[in-house]
Amino acid sequence: ALIGKGQHRHFMLKEIFEQPEVIGNTLKTMLNPAERTLTLPQLPFDLATIARVRIIGCGTSYYAAMTAKYWIERMARVPVEVDIASEFRYRAPPLEPGGLAVFISQSGETADTLAALRHCQAEGQHTLALVNVPESTIAREAEGVLLTLAGPEIGVASTKAFTTQLTVLACLAVALGRARGALDRAAEAEVCHALAEVPARVADVLRREDSIRAVAPLVAEARDVLYLGRGSNYPIALEGALKLKEISYIHAEGYAAGELKHGPIALIDESVPVIVICPSDALYDKTASNVEEVVARGGKVIFLSDRAGLARLSAKVAARIELPDAEPLVAPLVYAIPVQLLAYHVAVAKGTDVDQPRNLAKSVTVE
Ligand code: G6P
Repeated sequence: ALIGKGQHRHFMLKEIFEQPEVIGNTLKTMLNPAERTLTLPQLPFDLATIARVRIIGCGTSYYAAMTAKYWIERMARVPVEVDIASEFRYRAPPLEPGGLAVFISQSGETADTLAALRHCQAEGQHTLALVNVPESTIAREAEGVLLTLAGPEIGVASTKAFTTQLTVLACLAVALGRARGALDRAAEAEVCHALAEVPARVADVLRREDSIRAVAPLVAEARDVLYLGRGSNYPIALEGALKLKEISYIHAEGYAAGELKHGPIALIDESVPVIVICPSDALYDKTASNVEEVVARGGKVIFLSDRAGLARLSAKVAARIELPDAEPLVAPLVYAIPVQLLAYHVAVAKGTDVDQPRNLAKSVTVE
């Protein structure tokens, strides 16, 4: 079937705007909003027996894995390791039999991720594919499959596949937490409620597109850009930097905000915009103090937070972007959106080929 861009100028923008719907569709396969519970599709192994988890992917799918580590460790109290597929497959790490290995891939065809899956199978791991293409090789070869219902993603830079991956991974964290006895009913209900609200929160972010487009000129003229985040928003900083690199060709780096003083602070001057992802959560004050350090060195901060977080900020930042309130557990899903929109509008301002960026492929099926 032919897929059109609808009223949108690019597939990427269309796909960004589809997120409330596709996250909702993905949630519907697992969530029971009335009872505030969730059930994963049938898996060929018992989650209660899973004492360690390894999550493997490439590119944006790897950043989804990194986010899931925060969620699974917190909610299920199970140790999680994340790996870049191309590193994992040649490292020959020792694997304990009976561990769970999760493979995240939009396409289900990435060569390195497939090789890592085959290696884990040979080493006696339970394997679970998290893919967007049900008939893909990774889906066919893994023991269990969880699907993102993002629909076909045409833009080379992944957007809706990422947030639907996060959606499934949050549900996996809850299910594992329940199965392992680490999450009680009340806690499950709270997370389920927060998840049920994600589509509306994401739609709310999309209505603020103009405020994000307004800061694009600040970024478009830069040669280097830094993204900072903490906790489960650290992978969102990495993903924001990746999005910008991929489609605007501006050099960008994502950093854990606490690492600022261990290197990147040396780069700070008025020519390096610093995008800070800082919802008002338990780590807010830590990140806000990093912002002070950047501003004191003449850095231009673009500060992404909620109303309360913006009200508390005293540092003189170059721009403030107000985002809807988000439960800390689902904040990565909410903050993924503005960094996608920012990368998009910077690329449009620079006139690059947003949907087909140079040198990149939608899926990397050869090494
Ligand atoms: C390529 C794409 C990225 C994607 C990565 C992993 O680099 O350009 O957008 O994140 O492959 O792809 P996968 O299909 O395995 O998620």
